[in-house]
Amino acid sequence: MAQYDVIIIGAGPGGYVSAIRCAQLGLKTAVVEGRDTLGGTCLNVGCIPSKALLHASHMLHEAEHNFAAMGLKGKSPSVDWEQMKSYKDETIGQNTTGIEFLFKKNKIDWLRGWGTIPEAGKVKVGDEVHEAKNIVIASGSVPSSLPGVEVDEKIVVTSTGALELAKIPKKLTVIGAGVIGLELGSVYARLGSDVTVVEYLDAVCPGMDKDVQRSFKRILEKQGMKFIMGAAVSGVETTKTKAKVKYTLKKTGSEEVLDADVVLVATGRKPFTDGLGLDALGVKLSERGQIATDAHWATSVKGIYAIGDAIDGPMLAHKAEDEGMAVAEVLAGKKGHVNYGVIPGVVYTTPEVATVGQTEADLKAAGRKVKTGKFMFMGNARAKTVHQGEGFVKLIVDKETDRILGCSIIGPGAGDMIHEICVAMEFGASAQDIALTCHAHPTYSEAVREAALACGDGAIHA
Ligand code: NAI
Repeated sequence: MAQYDVIIIGAGPGGYVSAIRCAQLGLKTAVVEGRDTLGGTCLNVGCIPSKALLHASHMLHEAEHNFAAMGLKGKSPSVDWEQMKSYKDETIGQNTTGIEFLFKKNKIDWLRGWGTIPEAGKVKVGDEVHEAKNIVIASGSVPSSLPGVEVDEKIVVTSTGALELAKIPKKLTVIGAGVIGLELGSVYARLGSDVTVVEYLDAVCPGMDKDVQRSFKRILEKQGMKFIMGAAVSGVETTKTKAKVKYTLKKTGSEEVLDADVVLVATGRKPFTDGLGLDALGVKLSERGQIATDAHWATSVKGIYAIGDAIDGPMLAHKAEDEGMAVAEVLAGKKGHVNYGVIPGVVYTTPEVATVGQTEADLKAAGRKVKTGKFMFMGNARAKTVHQGEGFVKLIVDKETDRILGCSIIGPGAGDMIHEICVAMEFGASAQDIALTCHAHPTYSEAVREAALACGDGAIHA
């Protein structure tokens, strides 16, 4: 029986990053993972494969819509769906084997199989029991189910099945206008599917800045996606090859039906804790079924910690990574910390949408006095050059102190640009700090500086 300082359950971004940091800090570390490859949902059936399909379908969109205007003439490429899926799988393979390499380099043991915790200090994998001073649960999440909707991963799919469809559907209905629905919906819209998104709320991407929600939906509509808002899906009926999505329009109460070849259920995710034995151990869960932890990721049972999608907070790979590193530091006797106020969120559509901090609406609702600076990408030379002049940067700052409280960007490269604001917020910077920082020309980032200038005496190119 092997003895470890730490056993981590789950090799997703939370678990594998935590393992590497534990090993770097001198702890003897093992990771339990039941999949055939490391990397969890993110690398195998989430962030990474969807980005491959988003990239490939974006290239097609460029060829179809923008090449001719740039003098690139000729027939647009046709889609070889099998090859596109192989390219996606290759991308997954490069990343998952990369983590295997990092495990070997850091002398981390991979305990292959699904783990249970028979008691604190012990993890059972198959017939073997391994001992550890501390256990970190990083078991992630799975798609939540919707009453009346049975997923078969062929006609009615979650994000997992949507990455592996046998063919590109003629008609795709997406339930839920959240991140998954909009990213994968836009992949298939670009590949030629007739995509309709049915959403319960009146706006896309719940919780986002209202200006962004409106602009984002308009842009996606221009790209051909259709939306039925304020509609509660109550069930899906399937035949061998087709589906009927039943929904009720909240305003009128009328019951409607939508035909589809494929239905993507993207109505949220829930913690995956099945089989860990948490009940018997007495590990406390929150009302929402998440593992309850204290400020140092300790559960109610001594020696058992939890991070990532299995606990409270946004279900984001990078939030799990940060918690993974921080809990490793706690276990090594250092001071691990995560600033939950500065966790960016990105939607990888074209244009990208990125947010950090609080929204104008939330701040105003909390009674804060704020001012905003907004700059449209239409005034950014670089964005116009690449046919991406839609969208804007919106900065929210404290009215008195000018300190940055939040930012939303919809536009080219938004997911990378948001980090300038994350760093600024970590340093307690003001909009003026950004405005006084020289930004290279011509870059998309100039739009961030212009938004900062708009918080003061005014943007230059507005
Ligand atoms: P979500 O919570 O973002 O959105 C789900 C949407 O479904 C909501 O707008 C909700 O109102 C709607 N909905 C729920 N029940 C409905 C019904 N019966 N009829 C119609 N609409 C209904 O969930 P999503 O998109 O499934 O994503 C799950 C998690 O994965 C999220 O926490 C997300 O942040 C994360 N994720 C993040 C990504 C990224 O950062 N780029 C990519 C993919 C997932």
